[in-house]
Amino acid sequence: MSNILNNYSLKYHNTFGVAAKAKYFTSFSSEDQLAELLKDNICKTESLFILGGGSNILLTQDFDGLVLANNIKGIEIITENEKSTSIAVGAGEIWHDFVLWSIQKNLSGIENLALIPGLVGASPMQNIGAYGAEVKDVITKVRYIEIESGKQKSFTNSECNFSYRNSIFKDELKGRVVITEVVCKLSKTPLNNTKYGAITDELKRLNKEPSPQSIAQAVINIRSSKLPDPKVLGNSGSFFKNPIIETIWFKKLKKDFPEMVGYKISETQTKIAAGWLIDNAGLKGYRKADAGVHKNQALVLVNYGNATGLEIINLAKEIQEIIKEKYGIQIEPEVNIL
Ligand code: EPU
Repeated sequence: MSNILNNYSLKYHNTFGVAAKAKYFTSFSSEDQLAELLKDNICKTESLFILGGGSNILLTQDFDGLVLANNIKGIEIITENEKSTSIAVGAGEIWHDFVLWSIQKNLSGIENLALIPGLVGASPMQNIGAYGAEVKDVITKVRYIEIESGKQKSFTNSECNFSYRNSIFKDELKGRVVITEVVCKLSKTPLNNTKYGAITDELKRLNKEPSPQSIAQAVINIRSSKLPDPKVLGNSGSFFKNPIIETIWFKKLKKDFPEMVGYKISETQTKIAAGWLIDNAGLKGYRKADAGVHKNQALVLVNYGNATGLEIINLAKEIQEIIKEKYGIQIEPEVNIL
């Protein structure tokens, strides 16, 4: 039986740095250990919360239950041919460490996702994406344990129902499974995905040709210049999702707001840059006590030190109302609110 801690502070387990507590806390480092733990009475009687890197959660209150921290490690090549390599990665590995491992092996597919905070197990959950890439494009299988039965199961890529910042794990299976391993298929030929303009600009500045290494470097530079380092300033990346609206509506909005940033994502739909909406509403750098809107990226909310989760969520609600009032658009959090 694992060591179960009582009244445990989660301050160092969430990148917002919110000082909420868990009634009970423990961690597991293998599927077997997790399966054993799930048989224990405490898992039948207490509410459970599976914690990864804590980089996409906002704790608005103490957690009255058992927090289970995923510490399953391991990066293992399982198959390869002349074109690609399949790698099984433990859900408790740090995502960025896996990215560094892949570029060291000259494998391509996740270099655009460098420096995203959090653990590998969370990557399919919200289909992490950045700089023209999404993790759904490399995942071939996700292994998980069903909490209720304790059974080990897996999904293929299509069974994960991936879409923008979403998957079956964030939807129907929310709170019902623990992801234990993610299998990714990476290319031996560099993909050189530079469709996101800022990457090309950064490569030029670095005077480098595209390669998995140089693209990862460019992404690291861009992210570091725009996004606050959670070790220095508490945050959880983009707090809101970019809203998707009908293109006809976007065109109407453009008449009033000619500078509004949107990207056509299908014949009829446009994804709007929520960062632009917030920035243009004059909220960049806005601060209320220790909760604020980041000064360089309006989509990111920050904790200047002692903000509570409630203060952050109240700021988020205020922003939502202002955005709704100004543009008629409802923006929704990307972050999981607890
Ligand atoms: N913008 C502003 N003001 C701001 C922020 C953005 O005008 O304060 C404008 C930018 O000038 C740009 C557009 O909005 O024209 C988009 O901005 P950016 O390229 O910074 O990307 P984003 O849409 O704000 C998304 C992801 C990020 C990801 C970047 C790069 C979401 C919710 N966020 O942000 O992901 O790194 O694209 O691909 O989709 C995260 O999910 O936590 C995250 C950081």
